[in-house]
Parts: sequence; C-alpha cells; structure tokens
Amino acid sequence: MIESAKKYGDIVFFKVGNERIYLFNHPDLIRDVLVTNQKNFTKSRALVRAKRVLGEGLLTSEGEFHLRQRRLAQPAFHRDRISAYGRSMVEYADRTRSRWTDGRSLDVHDEMMRLTLAIVAKTLFSADVEKEAAEIGEALTTAFGAFNIGILPFSELLEKLPLPYIKRFEAARARLDATIYRIIDERRATGEDRGDLLSMLLLAQDTEGDGGGMTDTQVRDEAMTIFLAGHETTANALSWTWYLLSQHPEIEARFHREVDALGRSLPRPDDLANLPYTRMILAESMRLYPPAWAVGRRAINDFEAGGYHIPARSMVLMSQYITHRDPRFHPEPERFDPERWLPEVAAARPRFSYFPFGGGTRICIGEQFAWMEGILILATIAQKWKLRYVGSAPPAIEPRITLRPGGGLRMRIEGR
Ligand code: HEM
Repeated sequence: MIESAKKYGDIVFFKVGNERIYLFNHPDLIRDVLVTNQKNFTKSRALVRAKRVLGEGLLTSEGEFHLRQRRLAQPAFHRDRISAYGRSMVEYADRTRSRWTDGRSLDVHDEMMRLTLAIVAKTLFSADVEKEAAEIGEALTTAFGAFNIGILPFSELLEKLPLPYIKRFEAARARLDATIYRIIDERRATGEDRGDLLSMLLLAQDTEGDGGGMTDTQVRDEAMTIFLAGHETTANALSWTWYLLSQHPEIEARFHREVDALGRSLPRPDDLANLPYTRMILAESMRLYPPAWAVGRRAINDFEAGGYHIPARSMVLMSQYITHRDPRFHPEPERFDPERWLPEVAAARPRFSYFPFGGGTRICIGEQFAWMEGILILATIAQKWKLRYVGSAPPAIEPRITLRPGGGLRMRIEGR
C-alpha cells in the first residue's frame, strides 16, 4: 500500500472482491472524513466480527446510540479519575520492574502486554477481583487471538468463511460473558462505588439526554470494549519505544536525565508535567509505529474528494502508518527524532498528519489514559533498568489488530 500510495498520490483506488476501497493519504482528506463530513460515514460494517465480542460498545456502535454511550462513559475518563488510575499504573509498573533481574533476556512485548492487561484489569474491575481479571484476560486473548483480523476493514469478507476458529471463539466468548455478568451482578447488589471504571459505568446517568443509565448488557459491552481497546495498543507503543530507545543512545541518555531528575521515589501522576521529553519520545514512537495503523469508514452517500466523485457504500481507508511516514509532513520520515514534538515544530504541521488516536466524534476515549500510562510506565521502569535489543536484524512489523513487533521483542535487562 505504501508503494501504491507513493505512486498514485493522495487518493488510491483498488478493489477487493466487490469492495471499492479508497486509500486517502493527505491530512486534509483524512480530516474531511473523520471530522468535517463525519456524518456521511459509518464504521459498523467493518466491525461485524468485533461486535460478536464487543456487542454495541463504544468502538462498534453507531449514531445516536453511540453518542449516548459516549456521554455515559465520559466521566470514567475524567482527568481526576485518570490521575487516580495513574497511581495503579505506577504500582503495577513497579511490580514488573521488581520482578526483573540484571542480565536476564526477556520478551519485552510479552512483558508490556502483561503489564497493561493488569493495569486495565485493575482500573476497570478493582484489585480484589484480580483473579477474575486474569481469567477474563485469558478468555479475551483466546477470543481475540481467534479473530485477530476483526477490526480491520476487510474482516467482513473473511467473516463468511466457515473457519474452525469460530468455534473456539464462541467458547471463549461464553466464558467471558459468564465472568463479566457475575461481577456486574455482585456490584449491582452492593451498589458500592469502588472508584474503578466499572463502578463509573454502573452509576452513569444520562443527565443531558433521557436521564437513564445503562443496562447490564450495555455495561458488559463497554467493559469488554475498554478491556480490549485499553491494553494491546499501549503495550505495542511501549514495546516499540523500548526498541527505539535501545537504538538511539543519545536520546536514551537525555530520557534518563529527565527521569533521574524526578528523584529516587516512584513517579506520581502529577510528575507528567516534569516528563515533557518522555512524552515527545512516546509521540515520536507512535509516529513511526502507530499501534492503530489504519482506520476504515464506509460512505453513506456519494461524495467528492480531491476532485474525484466517490460513490455511496465505498470504503475509505486512512492509514496512520502511511501518513505518519509522509516526507511532505515529516521530513526524513524514517529518522527517530523526538525534537519533531517541540510544541512550535509540531504546531506547524497539519492536524491530521499525525492521528494515532483517530479524530472527530470517534476519537479514542482512552487517549489521556494512554498518555498517562505510557509515560508513567517508561519513567518507572527506566529509574531502574535499561533495555538492550538482542536481535541482529530489526524486529519485523506485524500488522494485526494493532501493529506488533513480529515474533515478540527479545531484550536484555541491564541495571542502571
Ligand atoms: C496508545 C494507545 C492507544 C491507541 C493508539 C488508540 C487508538 C485508538 C483509535 C485510532 C481509535 C479510533 C478508531 C476509529 O476511529 O475507527 C480508538 C478508539 C477507542 N479507544 Fe483507543 N487507543 C489507545 C488506548 C486506549 C485506551 C487505554 C483505552 C481505554 C482504557 C481506549 C479505548 C478506546 C475506545 C473505547 C474507543 C472507541 C471510541 C468511540 O468510538 O467512541 N483506547 N483508539
């Protein structure tokens, strides 16, 4: 696709079966789809399979229903709440760094997945259900492992094939449902606010709309969605960041100086203000390796774009991976350069030359959560360790639901 994008320009047309697909490669075209004309686009048909697990959660629902759910879920992502989750993020990062030993070689991607899974489980369901969280995590992994192409725009074509993994997937989903509904029942029975995301969802009332709350099924769908959307993405961002730091000693040294300036005690959520360079590193890492590497939309009505007439029902594909590496907006695109994120440099670029969290009404609800989590984990681990890549060739890129390092990411742990 990158080759074709370079060859054919800002709009690339291709067909897969009967599907008409347009790849949009310019920030202004992307803005028009995600923001200006977002009412002319849906994403539901691209997400049929995801709906089998996520039901009508935020990621998969549409229209008025989506807007209502978004209003109901928003308070769970309020800045004060996220600060409270920040303490759990550091606590779990501390557990991870305490488990590691000098000289050991580890699959860092696997470690980051375990860590972000534990964090989303803790912030979603509270500590005392950690056992259930592990159980849910396992069932989810089976479910999503089985349908890893699920949120990609082509999945509806594959959906029609009678594949054996569908059976495994159904079993994993049933297990997941049983656990989640049991937890919801227990919570409803006590009515207690435990300060976690699940409590927020159960207590949510639509004060701007009909005044009602969520049914058990809706709470289940949102919990599942947050669980899925909320860990693999951040784990990938972190894995690629550790790899990039290991390859750029000067950047790593400056990162260490910033982290060391926090002192020896564990970072706190309000330390985010003292970690601007760490934020720039994470931003630059997500430019080169955007965890969500493409988003798709289907046009409801015909529309015009870049002088072309595009018929209703066409699929529009926008790829973070391609746009983030476009030399018109990111000179020397292959170079890892956190300085691109100095506020005055970043402000000179068009808004949608960088969109790791999407945009418009469907922008990632967990964006602030993810920044807090990414920055705090990097700082907490770097207080104690540096990570060295042990492979001879750069890690392969595996574009599954999210952009993973292929075959994991083997790194050696060294004390600082
Ligand atoms: C680095 C980490 C993350 C990245 C790169 C990321 C990326 C994205 C993107 C690109 C979308 C929009 C998809 C589309 O427009 O089709 C999205 C939506 C979403 N994300 Fe994230 N995400 C991250 C972390 C999180 C976290 C931590 C959570 C929750 C705790 C979360 C929850 C969601 C939800 C619920 C949606 C659907 C929002 C809606 O449609 O209203 N994400 N994410």
